[in-house]
Amino acid sequence: MTSLAQRLVDAERRYVERNPESQRLHELRARYLPGGNTRSVIHMQPFPLTIVRGEGASLTDADGHEYVDFLGEYTAGLYGHSHPVIVRAIRDALDDGLAFGAPNRYEATLAEAVCERFPSVELIRFCNSGTEANLLALSLARVVTGKPAIMVFTGAYHGSVFSFVAADGSAINAPFPFVVADYNDAEGAARLIAEQAHDLAAVIVEPLQGSGGVIPGEAGFLGALRDATAEHDVVLVFDEVMTSRLSTGGLQRVFSVTPDLTTFGKYVGGGLAFGAFGGRAELMRRFDPSRPGALPHAGTFNNAVLTMAAGAAGLTYVYTAAEVDRLNALGDRLRDRLNAFAEANDLTFVATGYGSMVGLHFARGPVRRTSDLPEASELRALLHLYLLEHGYSYARRGFVALCLPLGEVEVDGFATAVEAFLDDL
Ligand SMILES: Cc1ncc(COP(=O)(O)O)c(C=O)c1O
Repeated sequence: MTSLAQRLVDAERRYVERNPESQRLHELRARYLPGGNTRSVIHMQPFPLTIVRGEGASLTDADGHEYVDFLGEYTAGLYGHSHPVIVRAIRDALDDGLAFGAPNRYEATLAEAVCERFPSVELIRFCNSGTEANLLALSLARVVTGKPAIMVFTGAYHGSVFSFVAADGSAINAPFPFVVADYNDAEGAARLIAEQAHDLAAVIVEPLQGSGGVIPGEAGFLGALRDATAEHDVVLVFDEVMTSRLSTGGLQRVFSVTPDLTTFGKYVGGGLAFGAFGGRAELMRRFDPSRPGALPHAGTFNNAVLTMAAGAAGLTYVYTAAEVDRLNALGDRLRDRLNAFAEANDLTFVATGYGSMVGLHFARGPVRRTSDLPEASELRALLHLYLLEHGYSYARRGFVALCLPLGEVEVDGFATAVEAFLDDL
């Protein structure tokens, strides 16, 4: 029996042999970018593939291999790589020019589309990333409550400077006073909110933790956060940067919990750089520049023409209620099949998530928080290299986000490949 470590050495050797051009380009990047990287999450050992082309749900790397895209750009690539409606919207907007230093004719359409879908979002403002959206939402909460602290949850990821995925957070987190509670522990969180109420400006939560392992929040937990924050004058922020895709009104609609503020990002900008935060009019009106003492919120590209046009077209014409349901059903199909396989074969493997977001883990369920997930780094790396070798891309940490060009054939092919790997193991 070959050891896992030996298998990994062999798989990495094959990967290096198969991808000389990606390796060359990685080394070229490393001359000017630390470790050849300008976005930590897309680094992998021994080096990441350089992708040179995407079409539909298909990716081509620098060495000419093709992959079916099950990463979906960490949810931002919902529309796939060449959706004709999105491409057309970008081309049409481009014809009229790029950057005007003025309002343009697309931003109202995108604002209306988001507010229509999310009744809790009465007013909205755009920015350039989910990180920025969270920074602004939390800063607004600190201003309106006059209190400094922010409650987050173990395993949470709210952006580059708001990462709590590792147990001790990130050394470059924003210098806010954070209170960290356990995810899906309703009683513990409610107790902490009551105890810290005098200091606490906001509670921010992903209704399903994406980067932390694609772990759904529980209805009782999210409901308890709503009750406790309402009772103690604390702003409840739902970070739906990833999860807004999971129904026509995000997970807040699924759980029937109404936050004070919601943050967005990813696919809502049509696949271009995007962020947004919005919520109760009474809070968001603080940014109305025609009012005395208005809060400033600047940003050169907040209403970037191409993003506004692509985002508006996507929500208006492409990601309809029927498509939301179809994509979620594909995710359910994948999750159900893999879990049935793991159960039938008594394997330490589980597929987590909700709808079109799926987590693959070498664990036994139920998975309620990141501490339920063993690191299993060798197994994760082996599965990742195996799936790449068989033409499927996703994130090594076990993260899958389906995109619209996928269908049952691709999903079944992916499931068959995972099952073959598990069988072999
Ligand atoms: C839940 C959540 N919030 C915020 C962010 C940050 O978004 P961005 O990468 O656009 O800054 C992410 C990114 O993955 C996310 O998953």
